[in-house]
Amino acid sequence: MNSSSPPTAPRIYLDNAATSWPKPASVYQAIEHYMREVGAPAGRGAYAEAIEVDKTISLARNGVAQLLGAKSSKEVVFTAGCTDALNLAMHGLLKAGDHLVVTAVDHNSVLRPARFLEEHVGVQVSRVPCNAGGVLDPQDVRQAMLPNTRLVCVNHASNVTGMIQPLAEISRLVHETSALLLVDGAQSVGHIAFDVQQLNADLVAISGHKGMLGPSGIGVLYIREGLETQITPQRQGGTGSHSDDDRQPQTMPDRFESGSPNVYGLVGLNDAIKFLMMWGVNNICQHERQLTAKLLAGLQAIPKITVYGSSNTDDRVGVVSVNMEGYDPRELAAMLDLSGIRVRSGIHCAPLMHQALGTLEMGGTVRFSFGLFNTEDEVQAVIDALQAIADA
Ligand code: ALA
Repeated sequence: MNSSSPPTAPRIYLDNAATSWPKPASVYQAIEHYMREVGAPAGRGAYAEAIEVDKTISLARNGVAQLLGAKSSKEVVFTAGCTDALNLAMHGLLKAGDHLVVTAVDHNSVLRPARFLEEHVGVQVSRVPCNAGGVLDPQDVRQAMLPNTRLVCVNHASNVTGMIQPLAEISRLVHETSALLLVDGAQSVGHIAFDVQQLNADLVAISGHKGMLGPSGIGVLYIREGLETQITPQRQGGTGSHSDDDRQPQTMPDRFESGSPNVYGLVGLNDAIKFLMMWGVNNICQHERQLTAKLLAGLQAIPKITVYGSSNTDDRVGVVSVNMEGYDPRELAAMLDLSGIRVRSGIHCAPLMHQALGTLEMGGTVRFSFGLFNTEDEVQAVIDALQAIADA
């Protein structure tokens, strides 16, 4: 094996909340086909390969729209990732004097832009607490709102506990006012059914490389039709359209998509969406919930283990955070690593959530996060490894 070879030891990959692995075979093939055979830019050429790229991007945009239940593919803006999408929504929408509501279940991809907007732009920010199980009370969100609340950001499913937030009720309460709702769908889209119209979400940020099963470096901001004019683009530049004009086009999605797109990411995402549609998100959800149920049941038999969040798998995506008495989370993760079990330990970029769980001072938790390709045998291997560590 030379230094660039991938590791050959078998591993149990349970870090799908950070990035999903493996990807569907068709995703690898699509990217390789593009790199080796197509090799043309997007939106900038009229020759055969350039047209093929444009068609693929258009299919990816339609696929995302279909997956989200959007009215039109014009509501789908491609970004460099979920953090980029959240930043576009927050920085693009909020001005000095506006009020923003964020919550304790949010990731730093929301909390840090919120802090920046507060300290440097003059946006007023409220941070809504969650309960000790990592769940928000919709009434707390509503009570935090002020007459000048412009935006409420809510993480759909926690990247720490996997707990699904009561989004439908939060959406109903937010829409009693003129504020907009921004949903962080990083850990939910692709894992559980998601419909922007049913949820009445105004803006949704999505990661392409987690539940969507695509490559990293690609994400989506869904912008409900009509809201695009309220969001200031954070970049200007070439779009391949209206090239005789040095002003940024106002048409969607060009208003927000300057610069050569990430074609590797987009061709991969296109095939990933086809794969998701073929499997059906509800079937994926069912599989991941079965794995979660098996893990939760196995952990119950290990008294030294504390599990955070509900024992009802319907309340969760396939993310489970734990601690073991006598072990620092990093130490426990390192011991699992010796058995080939790859997990993420620590604070998971979610300081307020760990504060609520009471795990901030102890260095966070050890997090197991499932994907479609994980198996019950792998879950059993995790339970056995944890039991062996507890018994040692
Ligand atoms: N947000 C990703 C995680 O939770 C990176 O691991």
